[in-house]
Amino acid sequence: MPSNPKPKPKPRYKKSFQAPKGMRDILPEEQIYWDKIEQTIKNLADAYGFKLINTPILEDSELFIKGTGIYTDIVEKEMYSLRTKGGDKLSLRPEFTPAIIRAYLENGLSSLPHPVKLYSIGPIFRYERPQKGRYRQSYQANFEIIGEKDPILDAQLIQLSFSINNALGLKNLITQINSIGCTKCRPIYKKAIMSFYRKRKKELCSNCQKRYQQNPLRLLDCKEKKCVQIAEQAPPIIDYLCEDCHNHFKNVLEYLDELEIPYILNSHLVRGLDYYNKTVFEIWPEDEERRQIALAGGGRYDKLVKLLGGKDTPAVGFAIGLDRAVNQMKEKGVKVPLKSRPLIFLAQLGDLGKKKSLKLFEDLRKAGLKTISSLSQNTITSQLKIANRLQVRFTLILGQKEALDKTIIIKDMLSGSQEIIPLEKVIDRLKKKLKHKT
Ligand code: HAM
Repeated sequence: MPSNPKPKPKPRYKKSFQAPKGMRDILPEEQIYWDKIEQTIKNLADAYGFKLINTPILEDSELFIKGTGIYTDIVEKEMYSLRTKGGDKLSLRPEFTPAIIRAYLENGLSSLPHPVKLYSIGPIFRYERPQKGRYRQSYQANFEIIGEKDPILDAQLIQLSFSINNALGLKNLITQINSIGCTKCRPIYKKAIMSFYRKRKKELCSNCQKRYQQNPLRLLDCKEKKCVQIAEQAPPIIDYLCEDCHNHFKNVLEYLDELEIPYILNSHLVRGLDYYNKTVFEIWPEDEERRQIALAGGGRYDKLVKLLGGKDTPAVGFAIGLDRAVNQMKEKGVKVPLKSRPLIFLAQLGDLGKKKSLKLFEDLRKAGLKTISSLSQNTITSQLKIANRLQVRFTLILGQKEALDKTIIIKDMLSGSQEIIPLEKVIDRLKKKLKHKT
């Protein structure tokens, strides 16, 4: 017999679990906001001629490295990447755009009449430092117009983002807008920026010292105080735009004037994704700039389709952050109508009553009478308590006696009066009562 019994292995699980950092549960009571947002987006997407597309949450990591850009924060620091058992390198999508273009090319959507207008709603994943309005799993509604270079579409997308926000009760928004040029004029601006920063390199934060080599335009939107001060003196890109980019930008602004959309020119807005050219924009609540909570962002990306293997095809798009929209709706006290609550409670008693109530619940539901029941409760008192709490208009009581007699009791919860009627008449009777008494 062994003298020392083997020590029990320590359990390897934690006692209680929490959602991963920066990710959260969206509880039933919050769903009214999300329902409202989803409905609004679907209605407006349809009105503006967009078709829904769903793509996988995981994509080949290379797609984002190539599409979003190797030196972007998203690819350098924020992707959730994994290797499958089969050895594939996949990433949870940190944004939609490259995935939508991949789907457009892979599924032959490029042979449809253009422009092709696609929208998606779903989660994105970025390993960012969590704070209010910034989550590691967040939700976007993403819109892309593929195959058209006309600046009128840039303006219409900005209008769409306003239409969505306004329909959600979010007003007082402002567009920040800039043009970051094209492959012709941007290299000239890059040189100017690098020459401006050359003498000031040592004063920059460590991140910007790296950006100087890899992604000099990003020097302009660093949020570090010392970098902001330097950026203020940097030459504005507008002065370096080629004729085509200049005219494009001028047209976008004229269309925005026509639409009466408020905007400010922000020469430091360069956006953190590599594919953009010409127009870039963000939509901000007027009082939120300090907290760095843009509600939506987007721009033109005329080279991405080709970069990902397609023909030279211009495109423009934007995404709206849904978590931020919900937060704003709550902060601004936007009222969202509650879902219609059930007006009928079905109470049951005894084995036979319980059995019959199962079928009756189905019949009521099919007849369009929204009913709630508590089939696992066995006492009438506990069931009536629930019915009272839910403030239903009528409670149906189907006990052993009623089940045997094929009758049912209808209790009026306002007057307290009750009547017994044949079970087969209950639906007609309730419909009449609800018509007259609610
Ligand atoms: P983005 O500016 O990276 O653009 O994201 C768009 C919006 O998504 C942001 O303005 C913000 O409201 C929301 N968002 C982004 N990250 C988070 C986060 N960690 N937590 C909460 N909300 C977040 C894009 O993603 C581009 N793909 C948009 C686009 C489409 N450009 C062209 N087509």
